[in-house]
Amino acid sequence: MSLDNAVAIVTGGAQGIGFAAAQRLGERGARLVVADRSGAEAAARALRESGFDAIAVDVDVSQPEQVAAMAQRAEAHFGRIDVLVNNAGIYSSLKPTPFEQLTMQDWRQVLDVNVIGVFLACQAVLPAFKRAGGGRIVNISSGVAFKGNPWMAHYVASKGAVISLTRALATELGAHQVLVNSVAPGFTLSDGVHANPTLVEGVKGPSLRGRVLARDMVPADLVGAIEFFAGAQAAFITGQTLVVDGGAYFH
Ligand SMILES: NC(=O)c1ccc[n+]([C@@H]2O[C@H](COP(=O)([O-])OP(=O)(O)OC[C@H]3O[C@@H](n4cnc5c(N)ncnc54)[C@H](O)[C@@H]3O)[C@@H](O)[C@H]2O)c1
Repeated sequence: MSLDNAVAIVTGGAQGIGFAAAQRLGERGARLVVADRSGAEAAARALRESGFDAIAVDVDVSQPEQVAAMAQRAEAHFGRIDVLVNNAGIYSSLKPTPFEQLTMQDWRQVLDVNVIGVFLACQAVLPAFKRAGGGRIVNISSGVAFKGNPWMAHYVASKGAVISLTRALATELGAHQVLVNSVAPGFTLSDGVHANPTLVEGVKGPSLRGRVLARDMVPADLVGAIEFFAGAQAAFITGQTLVVDGGAYFH
C-alpha cells in the first residue's frame, strides 16, 4: 500500500504529535482527515494552505455517535479510508496524583478518551477498511506503559490498554488485511505539553537525562515511525509496539 492518495484519519490531529503526523502523511501523498474536538478546521486549513488535501471533522472520540459520523464523513468525502492514527488522548492536562487520591472520575475521564476512544474509532473505520480491502491502524500509546511512571496510574493503565488492544486487534483483524501497530513516544514537547509549564519544568530534565540521545524530543521525532506503520514498508508487520524515545526504555 502506497500512501499516494491513501485516506488517513488522524484523531487529535489539530496540534502536537497528531498535527505533525498529519503533515508527514500529507507529504507522502495521503489525503487527510483532521479529527479533533477543538481546532480541527484551523489545522485542516493550515494543511490545505501547505498544498495538502485535508478536511476537518469536529469529534470527541469518547462519543460513539460522533466517532461514527467521523468515519462516515471521511468515507463520504474521499470515497475510502486507508489509515487511522489513533492519537487523540488526555495527557498534558493531567495533574500528577498519588494513587490513593485518584478518583473514579479521574479514571473514567482518562479511560473514556484514551481507551474507549481508540476502541470506537477502530470499530467505526472497520467497514470502510473492509470495503477498501484492508487498512492500517497506528495507535499512539506511551513509554510510560513499560516504565510504570508514578502519580498517573490511570494514564499509565490507559496506555497499557492501548498496547494490549493493538495486539488483540492485530490478531482479530489480520484476516481482513487490517494491520494494527502502536508507537510509544517518550516525553515529547508537543503543543499540549508546552501549554503546561509545570509539566515541562518537572519532566523535561529527567527525561533528557534518561535518554541515550540526550536532547529534547519533539513531535517531528515521531512522524517517521507513524509513517512507517502506515506505509508499504510495514506490509508484513502487525501487533507491534515501537518505542520512540531517544533510547530511554528498551522494549
Ligand atoms: N507529549 C508527550 O510527552 C506524549 C508522550 C507519550 C504519548 N503521548 C500521547 O500522544 C498523543 C498526543 O499527545 P500530544 O502531547 O501531542 O497532545 P496535545 O495535547 O498537544 O494534542 C492532543 C490533541 O488531541 C485532542 N483531543 C484530546 N481529547 C480529545 C477527544 N476526546 N476527542 C478528540 N480529540 C481530542 C486535543 O484537542 C489536541 O488537539 C496522546 O495520545 C498522548 O497521550 C504524548
